[in-house]
Amino acid sequence: MAAPAELPRLDGKTVLITGPSGGIGQITARELARRGAHLVLVCRNPERAEQTKTLIQQASPASQPDILLCDLSVLAEVRTLAAEVTRRYSKLDVLINNAGIMPGPLTITDEGHELSWVTNHLAPFLLTNLLLPLLEAAGQARIINVASEAHWLGEIEPAQNFRNDREKYSSFTAYCDSKLANILFTNELAHRLELTGITANCLHPGIVDTGLVNPGSSRLLKLMWLLARPVMVTPEVGAQTSIFLATDPKVAALSGRYFKNSKPARSSGTARNRAEASRLWRISAEETGLE
Ligand SMILES: NC(=O)c1ccc[n+]([C@@H]2O[C@H](COP(=O)([O-])OP(=O)(O)OC[C@H]3O[C@@H](n4cnc5c(N)ncnc54)[C@H](OP(=O)(O)O)[C@@H]3O)[C@@H](O)[C@H]2O)c1
Repeated sequence: MAAPAELPRLDGKTVLITGPSGGIGQITARELARRGAHLVLVCRNPERAEQTKTLIQQASPASQPDILLCDLSVLAEVRTLAAEVTRRYSKLDVLINNAGIMPGPLTITDEGHELSWVTNHLAPFLLTNLLLPLLEAAGQARIINVASEAHWLGEIEPAQNFRNDREKYSSFTAYCDSKLANILFTNELAHRLELTGITANCLHPGIVDTGLVNPGSSRLLKLMWLLARPVMVTPEVGAQTSIFLATDPKVAALSGRYFKNSKPARSSGTARNRAEASRLWRISAEETGLE
């Protein structure tokens, strides 16, 4: 089925999306392909990546998505990914940092990071920074970070060892902290990119019926997820704000905003705090080894 004619087209545009193998990301990728975008699908699982590619091509037979494999919880792989993207493409028009996890019990990666902090925040921080030259090469480019209303309960701990403390760890708190980081990162990025043609915005997709809370999640989270079921929306609905931010001409010049239901929305006081955003940038640069 062809995309309705009135929807903005993305012909000739290259869109890189992380986490397109399920949930919100899969619908976002499918719909952007229907609008003519050339998709770069960043997945960790080759089978799920191929299934996603097939699904996209069923909806848009002319589409030829590329698959790049990367486990975003490993920063060394994120660096390899960025190098490969830079080698293959001359420009990037849209970068959608969508992949995310709701963690289970405390997991520290081999590189020493708490799993949700590195997957949800440090990986998009590093990937985005490493891809800035390609985004700049597009002339006008958009960065979209999928955050969450969960950020209202988040805070930014001063150092990694606080997040890795087994006594104090709560998977829900860790998730909220990482989603606050998504918004602070977006704001600082928008500020740093003011004099360029690149915008950076973030969003809450709604409470969406996806695989985010899974059998490995804590019992409390699984209960909360069950209770939220009556107000949950489908991934088709949850993907709309990402699609809007990637395509709509009305937001071409808007940057540093938080969106809900495809409209600018209020984020928490902490999320809007400039000093906190620049503190997080310093912490993130140190933890990722970004020059
Ligand atoms: N669902 C909600 O209610 C909700 C609400 C607010 C915000 N969000 C945000 O929306 C975004 C998408 O989540 P979703 O709800 O669509 O969840 P989902 O169905 O679980 O999708 C998450 C995606 O991220 C990928 N991913 C996870 N860890 C990865 C890693 N280490 N390396 C590479 N890819 C990885 C997954 O890949 P695999 O297929 O390999 O697992 C999957 O494609 C997340 O950032 C989440 O925080 C969701």
